[in-house]
Amino acid sequence: MAGRFITFEGIDGSGKSTQSRRFAELLTARGDEIILTREPGGSTGAEEIRNLVLTGETDRWSAETEILLFTAARRDHMEKTISPALAAGKTVVCDRFADSTRVYQGATRGDLRSKVDALHDLMIGREPDLTFIIDMDPKVALARGLARGSGEDRFEDFGLAFQETLRHGFLTLAHAFPKRCVLIDGNRTVEQIATEIAACA
Ligand code: ADP
Ligand code: TYD
Repeated sequence: MAGRFITFEGIDGSGKSTQSRRFAELLTARGDEIILTREPGGSTGAEEIRNLVLTGETDRWSAETEILLFTAARRDHMEKTISPALAAGKTVVCDRFADSTRVYQGATRGDLRSKVDALHDLMIGREPDLTFIIDMDPKVALARGLARGSGEDRFEDFGLAFQETLRHGFLTLAHAFPKRCVLIDGNRTVEQIATEIAACA
């Protein structure tokens, strides 16, 4: 039996890593076999591409080049990590996936959504079974994200207006795919959010 594929999405600093970790712990405690992974990354090759796309100046890559780089990373991640785990019946919990490309590359620097979707159909061809989209105030999320000092702030460096555009993009996506997307209010405590997400497990 193929395993379940569950993703977490949202703007930078919205609490995806925190909540995906909590959710993976919950499922593990329930006895499920879990792979907790992230994008960009999750395989050796994809982690190398991560370093290219998340560091440096905002104009280091155009949105079009980013589509190619993120999709290349995703293809490697699918081949090496996600597909084998799902085939073995494991549950894959992933911090970001193709919805991030639809929004970050498809809806911020011009309307590139049809290019994102065409490449996705050609090279990835798989959607998650369930997606949690954490929605929250971009000002608070941006401050939290930058406070981490991770050195991977290329997208945070585009600024607050960019994060507001992203928020709008994720809300639009949640409404476009109501069957697989659950919208979560991220303006609450970690516990409150985790409890709501756990109820969907
Ligand atoms: P993301 O993966 O979406 O960037 P993180 O889970 O890394 O977000 O959270 C960003 C920062 O905010 C971290 O320092 C984390 O500890 C903190 N954080 C996460 N969720 C909450 C919350 N509900 N309330 C307050 N701080 C939070
Ligand atoms: P992540 O480490 O999840 O950042 P954060 O913790 O700040 O939310 O993701 C790295 C960055 O890469 C994030 O700014 C979003 C961006 N990104 C894209 O632009 N397109 C994509 O397809 C993916 C997966 C991520």
